[in-house]
Amino acid sequence: MNGTDWDIEAIRKDFPILDEKIYGKPLVYLDNAATTQKPLSVLDKLEDYYRKYNSNVHRGVHLLSQEATEAYEIARRKIAHFINAKSDKEVIFTKGTTDSINLVANCFGRRFLKEGDIVLISAMEHHSNIVPWQITCEEHGGELKVIPIHENGELNMEAFDQLIDTPKLKFLSITYVSNTLGTVNPIKEIIVKAHQRNIPVLVDVAQAVQHIPLDVQDLDAEFVAFSGHKMYGPTGVGCLYGKTEWLDKLPPYQGGGDMIKEVTFAKTEYNVIPFKFEAGTPDISGAIVLGEAVDYMTKLGIENIQKWEHYLIQYAVEQLRNIPNIRFIGEAKNRAGAISFLVGKIHPFDLGELLDKQGIAVRTGHHCTQPLMDIFSIAGTVRASFALYNTKAEIDKLITGVEKAASILG
Ligand SMILES: Cc1ncc(COP(=O)(O)O)c(C=O)c1O
Repeated sequence: MNGTDWDIEAIRKDFPILDEKIYGKPLVYLDNAATTQKPLSVLDKLEDYYRKYNSNVHRGVHLLSQEATEAYEIARRKIAHFINAKSDKEVIFTKGTTDSINLVANCFGRRFLKEGDIVLISAMEHHSNIVPWQITCEEHGGELKVIPIHENGELNMEAFDQLIDTPKLKFLSITYVSNTLGTVNPIKEIIVKAHQRNIPVLVDVAQAVQHIPLDVQDLDAEFVAFSGHKMYGPTGVGCLYGKTEWLDKLPPYQGGGDMIKEVTFAKTEYNVIPFKFEAGTPDISGAIVLGEAVDYMTKLGIENIQKWEHYLIQYAVEQLRNIPNIRFIGEAKNRAGAISFLVGKIHPFDLGELLDKQGIAVRTGHHCTQPLMDIFSIAGTVRASFALYNTKAEIDKLITGVEKAASILG
């Protein structure tokens, strides 16, 4: 894609917030790794649900409840299809990536982790893929080991090759794409090597599922976690994909309604997957609306989205490179979604603030990757992150904005 065969004007019209008349001022939104904006079809679907078929799921015999249940399960099927799961039973609705990882860390830890066992993560993980494992290790006497990265933000695969042979290694949990560096990890190679040692793998695809075609059967990871709000869907809902045999052998995460077959005071028989992991009333509207977001991405084509965003990122890197004293934090050959940088000695917050004054929304700070900031000996970065509706003109505005801010602050 060269930037001409993507009908960007029509696409932008799908997103009300990008309309100056609606938002009230021009907006260059480059904080998509934090959350994406929502298309009209998604907004409409949410209203539609509450207006026309709001009801609890899996419980009532009445028609309204059946309609809500059907819509909820259709959404599950759409998501299963989008990530090419073998069965929709392998898709569990959660609150998002954080919740999905906590579920696996908690349940895996309770069932399988013993004193002295090792869990492996990487140096570029989001706090969501560090802290749940720390908690689990603390509770069960396990230990966390970390795959280091190179100066350019790529994973150190030589170190990985050694760490994967660590005696008593029991689990590998790793991100596909770094939310801070934009690095795309060689995830298939990593999974194959883990499987050669019988190590189960969780892949955090929070920053991949909206940018890269995802086929969980091909990926072959035991677990995959993602959030709805980073893929044009609502906040408060996300998914955990898990292979049937693994979901079957993990104990339940939380107890309550829907996750049971039969309850007596003496004993509870748990429900089958996916319901075993969906205790209580789920985010029904969220799940249904996430299904609509998946439809939206499917309509545009994830391969087309990927090409467009690749074009934008290449252009942004080329242009940013011309800014005097720019330092990229992360320069991996294979990258997606985000670019992190610093300019001279300017504090990222100051730069971010001046960009905001020019109507350009970027993220500043540690991006929930404090240990990664420590590795680079920095407090934070400025991060521009991209979505399918961003334009080359917006990148030009970013460049002008950074130049202007640097001339004031530098
Ligand atoms: C790589 C990665 N993992 C996990 C998360 C956590 O996602 P959520 O806050 O939606 O649970 C994020 C959010 O930025 C992320 O970028």
